[in-house]
Amino acid sequence: MKRSSLIVAAALVVATPVCAQKPTATKPEAIWRATCGYCHGSVPGAPELRGIGLPEETVITAARHGAPGMPVFHASEISDADLRALARWIGRQHTPLKTTPVKTAP
Ligand code: HEC
Repeated sequence: MKRSSLIVAAALVVATPVCAQKPTATKPEAIWRATCGYCHGSVPGAPELRGIGLPEETVITAARHGAPGMPVFHASEISDADLRALARWIGRQHTPLKTTPVKTAP
């Protein structure tokens, strides 16, 4: 892929959650970016969870109970349905997406 198309692809991926105000297919990704991705795959000690076929229950248990260095996420923060969708989404990722915020052209 050419560099220019890579940039366009990255811009699309980054721009999508911003538009996703209503529940859409991209919601799990938006939740990931807002609540998980700034640690997982981004800081030392928080392992990348995508692309390893992580079971849904592992994700749900970790979110509801926390882990060393990881906060608990209550149902008031992420609903059961959203968490299940997020867990499914994480388990289906093949390659980690870039989670670092990228400045997109106006
Ligand atoms: C503040 C940083 C931080 C945030 C935010 C965070 N985590 Fe974690 N998470 C961690 C760290 C650090 C570990 C590793 C704990 C350990 O080494 O035992 C971890 C571990 C995990 C594990 C592995 C648990 C296991 O049994 O091996 C899962 C799954 C997980 N997190 C899911 C999530 C999900 C889903 C979210 C978002 C809803 C999230 N985390 C948000 C820091 C974070």
